[in-house]
Amino acid sequence: MPREFNYDIMPEIQTRWSPRAFSPEKVSRQDLLPLFEAARYAPSCFNEQPWRYILALEDEDIERMRGILTADNRLWADKAPALLLVMAHNRFAYNDKENYWHMFDAGTAWGFLSLEAERRGLITHAMGGFSRKRARESFNIPEEYTVICVVAIGKMGDKAELHEKFVEREQPETRKPLEDVFVSFSEEKGE
Ligand SMILES: Cc1cc2nc3c(=O)[nH]c(=O)nc-3n(C[C@H](O)[C@H](O)[C@H](O)COP(=O)(O)O)c2cc1C
Repeated sequence: MPREFNYDIMPEIQTRWSPRAFSPEKVSRQDLLPLFEAARYAPSCFNEQPWRYILALEDEDIERMRGILTADNRLWADKAPALLLVMAHNRFAYNDKENYWHMFDAGTAWGFLSLEAERRGLITHAMGGFSRKRARESFNIPEEYTVICVVAIGKMGDKAELHEKFVEREQPETRKPLEDVFVSFSEEKGE
């Protein structure tokens, strides 16, 4: 089913989706820095900017990052030329107290990053399917960083080369109706 939009929203939001058919074509750090610049301007609680990244581009780094992914994700994500581990620092710098909002803010930043990627003809695909324990061990990540997601970044590839398991799903997903996001938990008032 094609996506439909009730309102005229930002073009990148309309066209962004999460393909799995990556081209193995390399992307450079320079190609990707503008994406991080977009993420940099995300809002955050106390302007803490808690998002932190490990960017794997070189063979050795990317091989290590592939090693933390689930087998299913590896079937397609192994082709992506860049893998990004998204983390968030979970304490406020100014008082060292817990920052409850750190993952919310890192999520906003990843959203900005993905839209800038879309604007620049790059594709992104987030993955929760990886071992957080292995990520911590492989990259020596301290406890005060919450490990959140791995994102594959690159250029669109050939759908025909995708593992058969994913071919049917290789299209933009539709969404729930807009009304479904508004909820009320207060008791219904009787007559
Ligand atoms: C936090 C998060 C975790 C996800 N984990 C996976 C994953 O492990 N494997 C996968 O193939 N897709 C994963 N996805 C992609 C979603 O399935 C996809 O974003 C969703 O179906 C909506 O489709 P769209 O991004 O094409 O609009 C994940 C997305 C997010 C945001």
